[in-house]
Amino acid sequence: MNQEHLLIKALKGEPLERPPVWMMRQAGRYLPEYILLRNKYDFFTRVQTPELACEITLQPVDLIGVDAAILFSDILVIPQAMGLEVQMVENKGPFLPKTISSQKDIDALIVEGAAASLDYVSKAIALTKKELNSRVPLIGFAGAPFTILCYMVEGKGSKAFDKAKQFCFSQPELAHQLLNKITDVTIAYLHEQVNSGADVIQVFDSWSGLLGPEEFKQFSMPYLNKISDSLSARVPVILFPKGSWYAMEELSNSSASAIGLDWCVKPEFARQQTQNKKTLQGNFDPCKLLLPIPQIEQEVKTMIDAFGTNRYIANLGHGILPNIPVEHAKAFVNAVKNYRAL
Ligand code: CP3
Repeated sequence: MNQEHLLIKALKGEPLERPPVWMMRQAGRYLPEYILLRNKYDFFTRVQTPELACEITLQPVDLIGVDAAILFSDILVIPQAMGLEVQMVENKGPFLPKTISSQKDIDALIVEGAAASLDYVSKAIALTKKELNSRVPLIGFAGAPFTILCYMVEGKGSKAFDKAKQFCFSQPELAHQLLNKITDVTIAYLHEQVNSGADVIQVFDSWSGLLGPEEFKQFSMPYLNKISDSLSARVPVILFPKGSWYAMEELSNSSASAIGLDWCVKPEFARQQTQNKKTLQGNFDPCKLLLPIPQIEQEVKTMIDAFGTNRYIANLGHGILPNIPVEHAKAFVNAVKNYRAL
């Protein structure tokens, strides 16, 4: 039984009969068991209490049967650790009362010791690894520096993140100072996650697709590379720059093992751009989980037929939505598990 997990095999490029499957945001509001804890404890209490974070992390493993666990936490713990207050406002999402706009703001950010203040994450990882008992691997994660900058400058979610982009375009020197500080803290934090037992690291660049190709090259790619170069000697790294389909070829020359794709990318295009050098992850439109189950099963088959079973991790193209019926999430996972390459 000491066999390597499917996810690790897929990341190494070993031939497989079926791909591994997990879902972004798999620990979340579509699960009634999550809602029970959500009604009892506020968001950051759930994140900062290792026993709660562990319990929530295990829910989709036990209830849905995914092939990997992803730690229940949030990308916004980094701005918190750097000294910014982050609130999670009901029905609105994140809110940062104090934003970054000047040299003085950047100088005031904590870098040294910031990662160490996130020791509750290390405890949650160690506890989760113990509870998982090698059933499935554990994915650790962080936000990409550009996406974290978006929240630090804008102070909240936004369709266009125009303030954050204006900051980058009009004051690139300040932007790079900020991105470098975020990168340093993120690298230290991710190494701590690996020290505590994370088997794989995913970096979420949720808003990189708001940048054009040139600006992505300037404000996102160098920092993704820095993180991947530092971590990839220890564990496989998955980069998910959502919406940055134009950067596939550059990403395929990075040190990462895998690239996450949203549903706007054709599998054939991604394979051709990456020359089969990388494992690809994605890219089921989360809205399709609202379709009747037989249609979900058909769409999953079509997706795997297109990606192939090798160098592929079945996933959604972004996080699962709170209104997805649990049975539909299960049907998605089971359809992948029942797939067999001829
Ligand atoms: O994937 C998982 O199950 C692990 C846990 C996880 C959460 N957030 C828990 C969460 C992960 C990997 C994240 C990453 C995250 N957080 C991202 C990158 C991924 C993405 O979706 O693009 C971003 C941009 C955030 C910031 C964030 N956190 C937002 C915008 C929100 C509010 C919007 C929303 O989805 O509710 C959160 C809150 C959050 N983080 C929830 C969960 C389960 C919902 C909290 C709740 O109301 O219970």
